[in-house]
Amino acid sequence: MEKIIIDGGNALHGQVSISGMKNAATPIIFACIAVDDVCVIENLPRINDVEIALNLVKSVGGKVRFLTETSVEIDTRGVEPVSAPCELVRKIRGSYYLIGAMLARFGRAMVALPGGCDIGARPIDQHIKAFEALGASVMLDSSFIEARTETGLCGNHIYFDCVTVGGTINAILAAVKAKGQTVIENAAREPHVVDVANFLNYCGANISGAGTGTVKIRGVERLSGCTYAVIPDMIEAGTFMMAAAATGGRLYIRGVIPKHLEATSAKMIEMGVSVEEMDDAVLVTRKGPLSPVNIKTLPYPGFPTDMNPQVAVLLCLASGVSRLSETVYENRFRYTEELRRMGAHIQVERNTAVITGTDVLHGASVRAVDLRAGAAMVIAGLAAEGRTVIDDIFHMERGYVDMVGKIRSVGGNIRKIAIPASYDKEDFENGGSHERDQRF
Ligand code: EPZ
Repeated sequence: MEKIIIDGGNALHGQVSISGMKNAATPIIFACIAVDDVCVIENLPRINDVEIALNLVKSVGGKVRFLTETSVEIDTRGVEPVSAPCELVRKIRGSYYLIGAMLARFGRAMVALPGGCDIGARPIDQHIKAFEALGASVMLDSSFIEARTETGLCGNHIYFDCVTVGGTINAILAAVKAKGQTVIENAAREPHVVDVANFLNYCGANISGAGTGTVKIRGVERLSGCTYAVIPDMIEAGTFMMAAAATGGRLYIRGVIPKHLEATSAKMIEMGVSVEEMDDAVLVTRKGPLSPVNIKTLPYPGFPTDMNPQVAVLLCLASGVSRLSETVYENRFRYTEELRRMGAHIQVERNTAVITGTDVLHGASVRAVDLRAGAAMVIAGLAAEGRTVIDDIFHMERGYVDMVGKIRSVGGNIRKIAIPASYDKEDFENGGSHERDQRF
C-alpha cells in the first residue's frame, strides 16, 4: 500500500512541463483499431489509464511497441472482433471507445460495461442512441453491451439529449467509415474531441466541425496509419495553476495550449491571481489575498468539471464566501468531507458547495476519493500547515504523470511512501521509525 506524505507551507516556485492529455490519448489509442494500420502516437502520458488502454488493444490482437518514453507504435492490422477481458475493461471509463472503434472496423462489438471515477451514474444511453442511429442493433445487460450490424453502418442525423464527451467521440468513431454523411448535433466541444477528430483526419477520415456543437462526418472506405502527437493535458495544467496559487508561489507551466485554459485562467484572475499567457506556457503568480468568486462547472468552453475539486481548495483560502455549482455530475462533491478534516468550511446544498474562506488549512489524514479529488488533497496538503497523509493514491496514478516528482522539482515537500500492512498509524503520522525505513 502507498501513501503520499506532504509537509505543507512551501510556496511552489519554478517550471513544470505538462504531459499529454489522458482524455485525448485514451480514445486515440482505441481509434487506431478503426484505422487498421500502423500508427505512431507521440506525447503519450505514461499513466495507468493509458497503460490499460494499450493492454486492451493488445488483448484483441494489436501490437504495441514503445519507441521512446512517450511515443508508441500501435499496429492494429492483427486485431480480431473479439471481446476484451472484462477485468481490464472495467478498470477505466474510456474502454467504451472499443465499441465505436470495433463497430467501424468489423460492424460488431461486444464489450463489458466500463469503469471510471465514482462521480455519478454515468450512463451510456447517448452512446447507444448514436450506434442505433447509424444502423447498429444494441443489446445491453447489467454487465455487457453488444452492438452489431449485418448490412454495414449508414450515416444519419444524431441529436444528443445532453452534451457528452464520450458519446460524441464514440459517435465519431462509429461513423468514420459508415456509408454517407453523419451529422452530430449538440456535440461536445472539448479539445480532446477535436484531437480525436484531427487524428482520424490525419488517417484519411473526412470530419468537419469538431470543436463546435455540430460535427459532420462523411464516411470513407479506408483509413491509413499516421504519426500524431496528443495535445497537452489542460486538467493537469489547471491543477498546477491551482497549486501555485494555493501555496502563494510562482510557477511557469510550459507545454500547454493557453486557449484550452481560458475558463480556469479567467476565474483565477477574478480571484486576484496573476496569469500571464505565452505561446505554449502560462506564468501563474499569487500576488496577495484571494477574492471569493462564484463558479459553475459547464461543458467546454465553460469551467471544467474536472477542475471542481482543485478550485475548491483555492476557494477555501479566499477572503469571503464563494459558491461552486456542479452541473455535470451528481456526485462530484464527495471530496468536501476530506477538506473539512483539514479545517475547510464547506457546506454542500444540492449541486452547490458554499465555501467560506479561512486563513489556513491544517494537515490531516485524508483519502483520495477519486482522481481529481486526490489532486485536490495534494494541493490542500501543500497549502496547509503541518503534515497531510493521503490514502488511496492509486486514483492519482491513473491520471497524472509523476505528480510527486514534478511537485518536488518546484519545492513541494512531498513524497510517496510504501507502507507495510502492519504499520502503526499514530507512530507513522508523527514521523515515526516506519517512515524512515520505507522512504523511496
Ligand atoms: C469524460 O467523461 C472524461 N473522462 C471525464 O473526466 C470528464 O469529467 C467528462 O468527460 C466531462 O468533461 C474521459 O474522457 C475518460 P460525458 P465522459 O459523457 O465521457 C451524462 C477525469 O477526471 N451522460 O461528457 O464519461 C453523464 O452522466 C474524468 O479525467 C449521459 O447521461 O463524460 C454526465 O452527467 C472524470 N448519458 C454528463 O453526461 C450518456 O450516454 C457528461 O458525461 C453519456 C453521458
